[in-house]
Amino acid sequence: MAHLDAARELDGDLAIELAADVQACEAMMTERLGSAVDTVENIAEHVFEAGGKRLRPLFVSLAARATGQPFSRERVAAIGACMEMIHMATLIHDDVIDHAATRRGESTASTVFGSTASILTGDVLLAKAMQILALDGDLRIIRIVSKAVVDMAEGEVLEVQTRGDFELSEEEHVEILRRKTAVFIACCCEAGALIAGADGRVASALAGYGEAIGIGFQIADDLLDFQSLPEVSGKPCATDFREGCATLPLIYLRGRLAAEETAYVRSKFGNGVTDADVETIAGWMSDREAFASASSRAEDYSDKAKELLSDLPQNSATRLLAHLGKMLICRDS
Ligand code: IPE
Ligand code: IPE
Ligand code: MG
Ligand code: MG
Repeated sequence: MAHLDAARELDGDLAIELAADVQACEAMMTERLGSAVDTVENIAEHVFEAGGKRLRPLFVSLAARATGQPFSRERVAAIGACMEMIHMATLIHDDVIDHAATRRGESTASTVFGSTASILTGDVLLAKAMQILALDGDLRIIRIVSKAVVDMAEGEVLEVQTRGDFELSEEEHVEILRRKTAVFIACCCEAGALIAGADGRVASALAGYGEAIGIGFQIADDLLDFQSLPEVSGKPCATDFREGCATLPLIYLRGRLAAEETAYVRSKFGNGVTDADVETIAGWMSDREAFASASSRAEDYSDKAKELLSDLPQNSATRLLAHLGKMLICRDS
């Protein structure tokens, strides 16, 4: 995986430790995802086996290491598994909401098993993640995770609520990104810090890093929605535009179109978009530098994330977090 390669270049020992953490987390997930109900077992296995970058457990582990304090590797694996299971649940739900047929290069759970079974299994995964939290028993982590899950769910609802709004403002849009994606990544970082017994200042700096990188990460995801080939991203192309979700490339393009172009883009937004329409609109996003402006916003957030690391102990984990900040905004999947 690209981030483990980056870790290897930075510090071979750190890479070995992170790989071990990922393995322990995967083992925990395998144990916890098992179910006596075949449908739950099959859907969970389908999503788990499709892979993914496993970034949320990585953030838990790296944040714990970034504190420079000793910590329990078992707890990092357990909380990492909890976070990845919450992520899996939200992806299953998100693909139903977005009518997405592929994810991680595979058919989505709803395509294979149907929406009803998928939605319910997403709920089971969420409940299983809560069981891990309860077993861990750290009230501070229970508080931040439960708050982040509320934010994430409300962020998705807010996105649905504003669907079809061609005039959605940049501020409203960024608030949706913050809630649906960034707060949870912040929570992974803060949870890692808390496991290592970090003081409030360090835990807040890591949470701030996670939130900034989370917004940059989602902006990059929204760029990939237009720019990446499905064979590379593993996801369908232009889902946001087809579903009537305004993202930064569209928000920036709006002010750079002639009146008749605006009328055309508006008429297609969330409304029977063909591949040829996507090609035309993405072409304009490229020519009018709407992509470039959105990339530049993602870079701003990555820079902000890096700045927030400056008060932390300077070790190979904080260096890798800074590097990840850059990698995650110019990734291709
Ligand atoms: C996808 O997250 C959902 C977003 C918040 C953009 P990832 O890009 O981390 O998905 P996987 O886990 O690697 O598939
Ligand atoms: C995912 O948002 C948000 C979640 C937190 C589940 P998107 O709908 O933009 O993500 P992808 O592109 O489907 O992964
Ligand atoms: Mg989606
Ligand atoms: Mg979505």
